[in-house]
Amino acid sequence: MTDKSRFSRLMAQIEAANAAYHERDAPEMPDAAYDALRREAEALLAAHPEWRAESGALAQVGGRAAAGFGKRRHLQPMLSLDNVFAPEEFTEFLARIRRFLGLDQSALEFVAEPKIDGLSISLTYEGRTFTRAATRGDGTEGEDVTANILTLPSLPRQLPADAPDLIEIRGEVYMTKVDFLALNEAQEKQFANPRNAAAGSLRQLDSRITASRKLSLFAYASGETSQPVAQTHWEYLQKLKSWGFDVNPLSALIPETGAEAFQAQIGAQRAALAYDIDGVVYKINDLALQNRLGFVGRAPRWATAWKFPAEKASTLLEDIEIQVGRTGALTPRARLTPVNVGGVLVTYATLHNEDEIARKDIRIGDIVELQRAGDVIPQILGVLKRGEGQPFRFPATCPVCGAHAARDEDEAIRRCTGGLSCPAQVVERLIHFCARGAFDIEGLGEKTVRDFFARGWLTSPPDIFALPAREPEIAALDGWGAVSAAKLSAAINARRRMGLEKFIFALGIRRIGENNARLLARHYGSYPAWREAMAAATVIGSDARLELGSISGIGPTIAQDLVAFFAEPHNLATLASLTEAVTIEDAQAAALSDSPLAGKVVVFTGTLSMARPEAKARAEALGAKVTESVSKKTDYVVVGEDAGSKAKKAAELGIAILTEAQFRAMAGL
Ligand code: IVH
Repeated sequence: MTDKSRFSRLMAQIEAANAAYHERDAPEMPDAAYDALRREAEALLAAHPEWRAESGALAQVGGRAAAGFGKRRHLQPMLSLDNVFAPEEFTEFLARIRRFLGLDQSALEFVAEPKIDGLSISLTYEGRTFTRAATRGDGTEGEDVTANILTLPSLPRQLPADAPDLIEIRGEVYMTKVDFLALNEAQEKQFANPRNAAAGSLRQLDSRITASRKLSLFAYASGETSQPVAQTHWEYLQKLKSWGFDVNPLSALIPETGAEAFQAQIGAQRAALAYDIDGVVYKINDLALQNRLGFVGRAPRWATAWKFPAEKASTLLEDIEIQVGRTGALTPRARLTPVNVGGVLVTYATLHNEDEIARKDIRIGDIVELQRAGDVIPQILGVLKRGEGQPFRFPATCPVCGAHAARDEDEAIRRCTGGLSCPAQVVERLIHFCARGAFDIEGLGEKTVRDFFARGWLTSPPDIFALPAREPEIAALDGWGAVSAAKLSAAINARRRMGLEKFIFALGIRRIGENNARLLARHYGSYPAWREAMAAATVIGSDARLELGSISGIGPTIAQDLVAFFAEPHNLATLASLTEAVTIEDAQAAALSDSPLAGKVVVFTGTLSMARPEAKARAEALGAKVTESVSKKTDYVVVGEDAGSKAKKAAELGIAILTEAQFRAMAGL
């Protein structure tokens, strides 16, 4: 299989796993398998930054707020952690920090904390009184679980006088192993593990149920605060303790050279601990350094989770199911006889693709070996015992529409060629259109989209905006009613204005994930400008095509995908009717207009002391457009060491040249 197809496959798997874990509290894959997928995908992405468009699932943190709870916006986003699994990877983590800080060999100090397998929570105190609690949600906005958190006996309701006026305190809500087993024994519904039990208990609409479940809390991080509380993380933890929070007693202040030993020590204690942990979190102790290091995407640069290795088990492979995705990709998954792997019931595993099944010669009826770590389900490692089955023959036709399923020469993925005549693809595109990050229409989740599609109410995205006219019919459906039908209409009507970025992403153009949609939106600014440029870009060699190809992050393959989309008459028809129903707002560059870089076209060249992606991200965050090549449209060329032809060209064109120091000053770095 080519790297590209492997990457696409990985993204689909990660996306599915994200949804299972965060939205349904029903993980279908063990953490170790999930982490392995992410790491493989990240490595491929590092080698092929041009695939960034498709990497949206990597950036996703958590799931959306569940219906039934009010929503709470976090004052500071709640992020996630990157993982390492081996000493060399931890060393690489240290090296990254040093590179970023431009540090010599002086030793870094860390706080090591067991990584609790629960769910993260943000607690807000105003005027030193506890006012609300929210789950992580999508990282920006979570569910308001204040009433439920108030049932936790260990929650401080009041903070003493030395606490700031406003503070968000973050921690982990968890259930001990003993309480988890007792709960499962006492009730019919079985939770797969303590994490799910804690999540299920916290997300109860009736807080009396939460009160009856034994939940605990460890505090370990901070969000917004009106005044600094400490200068080091260790000092911060001591403050939390003095304010009455439970802080994990195994937390320790260690030199960077002590991590490996600490890892081993906690690993040895793991089984005997009262709660599940899946690794150790290492955080830079100095908060000023943390601040300088900042974040990359979903995770801080100043911390990492060193995870424990995987657990293994074996079970019967009952069937190989084939699913058809939005772009027609046929994806196999293994249905297993449920097996308990370290406390998690595993029913499905992904089989990657045709070649992987062939390579491992996995057949229906085989006993297969699975691997999981920390939390949930597994990856299939291989066949342990051959059953009666014949070698698996991957279908050459789409299991949904029967169209020929073709395999590109350089791809391991077989794709249904049915296009919009394949119901699976049509419905997957509709689901994508309504999903989070795109139109995000509450009430039009996967199930409803499938149902409305089957009824013939939805065949393409513009139909969504005709649904409010069907409100009485929807209200009459099983499981609906006047209130929920009216809510759906309201949710749809609320999306009649949409930002350009989300609009572009929603179209589901191949390789145009959230990141590339953002790049395009920022670059072109408005829908008419984008639309016109895309029409013009269909001509190879045209200025519009060259401009498209020069947007940093958009390579020739992506440009080709965009052009292909605009070459399809049915797509143009969809766009035309969509723009009648939806007002598309110009991309946000104006909000950042304070920055001297806002709206400027910037090119980096030569070696900079900061990593190139970092420089690019900083500039983009301030509203700049970063391109690869110098043209008349370029405003600034930032030259590092050994800058070559680009610097020369800039000089020829009379474009402003900045040193890295000047750029840093402009970016406030
Ligand atoms: S710090 C910005 N510390 O692990 C860093 N997280 O994989 C925020 N977790 O979402 C997290 N124990 O739910 C941190 N001692 C600890 C943790 C911890 C468990 C969880 C937390 C977080 C997830 C990231």
